Amino acid sequence: MVEDNGTLRPKPLDPKFGVWVTEADRAARLDQLATEPELLRVEHLRVDFPIRNPLGAKRSYFVAVQDVSFSIRRGETLGLVGESGCGKTTLGRTLLGLIPPTAGTITFDGQTLSRQAPWHRLRADLQLIFQDPYSSLNPRMTVGDAIAEPLRVHCGQERFHRYRRLDARRDRVAYLLERVGLPVAAMHRFPHEFSGGQRQRICIARALALNPQLVVADEPVSALDVSVQAQVLNLLKELQAEFGLTYLFISHDLSVVKFMGDRIMVMNQGRIEELDTGDRIYHHPQSAYTRTLIAAIPHLATSWNPSTTQESREADPS
Ligand SMILES: Nc1ncnc2c1ncn2[C@@H]1O[C@H](COP(=O)(O)OP(=O)(O)OP(=O)(O)O)[C@@H](O)[C@H]1O
Ligand SMILES: [Mg+2]
Repeated sequence: MVEDNGTLRPKPLDPKFGVWVTEADRAARLDQLATEPELLRVEHLRVDFPIRNPLGAKRSYFVAVQDVSFSIRRGETLGLVGESGCGKTTLGRTLLGLIPPTAGTITFDGQTLSRQAPWHRLRADLQLIFQDPYSSLNPRMTVGDAIAEPLRVHCGQERFHRYRRLDARRDRVAYLLERVGLPVAAMHRFPHEFSGGQRQRICIARALALNPQLVVADEPVSALDVSVQAQVLNLLKELQAEFGLTYLFISHDLSVVKFMGDRIMVMNQGRIEELDTGDRIYHHPQSAYTRTLIAAIPHLATSWNPSTTQESREADPS
């Protein structure tokens, strides 16, 4: 596309989210990521939930996650997509040690995590951003106290000793608020005084308080309208570059996952259907299930999707 002044404008890969990136940019990022070390490795992970009878005795098990294996490189965003109930949240929470795995191994930064393993020491390095910015903030806590809470909880660890001091915590909160695009004065206010998008920014600031390595973002923009979604997604990308974050980005919306993910993992009924770069998954989906997911996106242009109209191809040439 040629602009008025004659310069060549890059092709919009993600017009929905207002970002102009070229295929070459994407390829260069993937090449660069390929040289990064693995931060997380998951092997043959299985998570069962007991099904109890009315008297509370375990009768059988529901297998929520089955034989899941993948890895994420440092600085990468791995998008996880699948229908409601397929096990995305269960997988994310298991990685953070919030649900015990039934079988399989999780290796984070070279350490194998198990039931007895050092989850507590790693808790600061693994953070979660939830879907619902309303219920994940305590309405009786000021925004400043909410963001400072992880600093208070972890200040016993040597690397966070400085946060035993109130003024150090306050400085960190002010810095984080600024980084997520909120005024520093927001620290004295309460969550109900903010919009959904602003609350999600507060939750992001809290998740980043301890400088984590891996952030599991579980449907972080699903409760927001599209224009606010774009702002929050772009903020997450900026913060990733600035803080060197690695994301597992969960969504049921494939267009959101494609925008965020360097690679995409498609999940169906607790299993991984396929894992590949966004472009390959979109244009050359291997499984019938992935094709169904893609076909369900309105006006999506892909090289194979027969429902794509010429109009939508022009609107979204990715
Ligand atoms: N604590 C639990 N006990 C029993 N079953 C559970 C529990 N948590 C989740 N499940 C079941 O595991 C399956 C996967 O749930 P999960 O929340 O991981 O799905 P999801 O992919 O995140 O869905 P959504 O897109 O709706 O958030 C569901 O069938 C759910 O009912
Ligand atoms: Mg979920």
